[in-house]
Amino acid sequence: MKLSTLLTTAALFSRSAMAHYKFPSLIVDGTPTPEFKYVRFNTNNINPLLDLNSIDMRCNEGGLASGPQTETAVVQAGSTVGFTLSNSIGHIGPMLVYMAKAPGDPSNFDGDGEVWFKINEWGPDFSSGSIEWPQLGITSYSFQLPPSLPNGSYLLRIEHIGVHNAANANSAQFFLNCAQVQVTGGGNGNPGPLVAIPGLYSNEDPGIHFNNYYPPPTSYVIPGPPVWFE
Ligand SMILES: *[C@@H]1O[C@H](CO)[C@@H](O)[C@H](O)[C@H]1NC(C)=O
Repeated sequence: MKLSTLLTTAALFSRSAMAHYKFPSLIVDGTPTPEFKYVRFNTNNINPLLDLNSIDMRCNEGGLASGPQTETAVVQAGSTVGFTLSNSIGHIGPMLVYMAKAPGDPSNFDGDGEVWFKINEWGPDFSSGSIEWPQLGITSYSFQLPPSLPNGSYLLRIEHIGVHNAANANSAQFFLNCAQVQVTGGGNGNPGPLVAIPGLYSNEDPGIHFNNYYPPPTSYVIPGPPVWFE
């Protein structure tokens, strides 16, 4: 291999590594909380998940084991919360937010079964006439909790799906973390539809097996169930 090729390859590797990310901090009342205080620690650093049928899709690698060492943040239904990113988003793809109600202490909750509902999603922008991803470069993501969310303890799961390479089969990249929250000031909403993780995505979903480049897409279907927000 020529030196120039080696250097190019090294540059590509470092660029793609920098393009990866995790969500280490929950943002409450506009302020980032300490890293992994309320967010369950994940053991794969900033690397994506590639197997959408893995149980790691719930709270990332290590994210089911790290519940007992994670605290639970008190948040108001209807308030704006968010997550910081360890690195700015470097891959095209949507943002998605899910919750699952814990029957008791959220530290011991593993999110098993059809318990997850989507509260927020953000896809591409087609207003210029072609596909644009305003997610590129963001360093945090904030969103509103549904005002009628019932009181109680939840897992709050943030996700970015990298679709830069997803024209190839089984090549979407999943970046996600779970926070533990206790919702107060809530209402009498009935969140749904409820889905299981894994199980909510398929490798043939149009927003997961997706060619961003040619022919230029004119639409994008955000994966997963519809958003519940009341
Ligand atoms: C939810 O909790 C708040 C206190 O944070 C309480 O005032 C309210 O009545 C509760 N809502 C329901 C539906 O129980």
